[in-house]
Amino acid sequence: MSEAKPNGHDRPEAGRPSQEPGLDAPAGYSFGTKAVHAGLTPDPSYGSVIPAIHQTSTYAQPAPGEFAEDFDYSRSANPTRAALETALGELEGGHGVAFSSGLAAEHAVITLTCEAGAHILLPNDLYGGTFRLVDKVLAHWGLAYDLVDQTDLDAVERAVRPETKLVWVETPTNPLLNVVDIAGVVARKGEALVAVDNTFATPVNQRPLEFGADFVVHSTTKYLGGHSDVVGGAAIARDPEHYERLRFVQNAVGAVPAPFDCFLVHRGLRTLHLRMAAHAESARAVVAMLEARADARDVRWPGFSGMVSFRHDDAVGVVQRTELFTLAESLGGVESLIEVPQAMTHQSVEGSAAAVPADLIRLSCGIEDPQDLAEDLARALDG
Ligand SMILES: Cc1ncc(COP(=O)(O)O)c(C=O)c1O
Repeated sequence: MSEAKPNGHDRPEAGRPSQEPGLDAPAGYSFGTKAVHAGLTPDPSYGSVIPAIHQTSTYAQPAPGEFAEDFDYSRSANPTRAALETALGELEGGHGVAFSSGLAAEHAVITLTCEAGAHILLPNDLYGGTFRLVDKVLAHWGLAYDLVDQTDLDAVERAVRPETKLVWVETPTNPLLNVVDIAGVVARKGEALVAVDNTFATPVNQRPLEFGADFVVHSTTKYLGGHSDVVGGAAIARDPEHYERLRFVQNAVGAVPAPFDCFLVHRGLRTLHLRMAAHAESARAVVAMLEARADARDVRWPGFSGMVSFRHDDAVGVVQRTELFTLAESLGGVESLIEVPQAMTHQSVEGSAAAVPADLIRLSCGIEDPQDLAEDLARALDG
């Protein structure tokens, strides 16, 4: 098993300047306190502790062009989404923008930082959908890319070209769980900007903007939502100008999340710190069981989060024999999931330099009793 240090601290520095004064929890509190309060203030009309879900497409205007804040039409802005965006910004230490999926957030960051003729550096182990977006959609519009092992910082430096506009980092990577030194990449990026997919680590374990990254991206579908009941995404910018451009792309392209989905993700954020600790305890128990067995090879867990991967000769059989681990794509929910990336989440990297081994099993360890999870998987391995 590889134990790696996350790029994180226990207590963050004071949060970003508020996008909406009065909505933020006061700066200086620890992460857990911020997670509970970020972006939430009692409803001014009725005092409801949880603000109403603004399930509306539009807003009444007393006179043409007169409206509250930037609320004229819900593709442009919505109060439920604004509250989530404030919270996301506060937890990552930047300015948050919510999208309808993680891939929509990725698309926004890549298209605002790159143009035709530009070059993007991708990790050689990454979420298959990210590769597909660049290789099958954006390459068609003139974006060039290279895949590089970002655990090798010299290789990163060698791969950066004059036309490299963005270094895309995923850490830990999906599905091999390699940990990349964010500050090391930032030191070798040349003139490029750096975006970090923080989906697997979450801001509980790692806040990339503190290490000099320019953008953080999340599939909020995963740990931030945390309950496998919503698809969503987020991009968080360090620079206010990048934030304004993200907002522009969000409105211009229109991949916005529905108010109810924003409410669900925001509710998930409030227990993120507790869930991440429980996910890690589950993973620890499962990894201890796997490491004691000869049939589980190349056991990988970065030492935080609930994501574990290992190789097994009967991968396809094992994933069909668990009871508590559900065979399904996705990750980061309170319930445990198991999958074979090569046949499921990573089909789009087949045949590329980012292809994953067919005998790899990926676990998303949930927050059930850790021993129950270890025993469930052990029974499946026994056949
Ligand atoms: C690391 C990572 N980033 C991004 C995404 C894409 O997110 P979404 O499915 O919300 O579009 C995923 C989805 O699995 C992922 O695992």
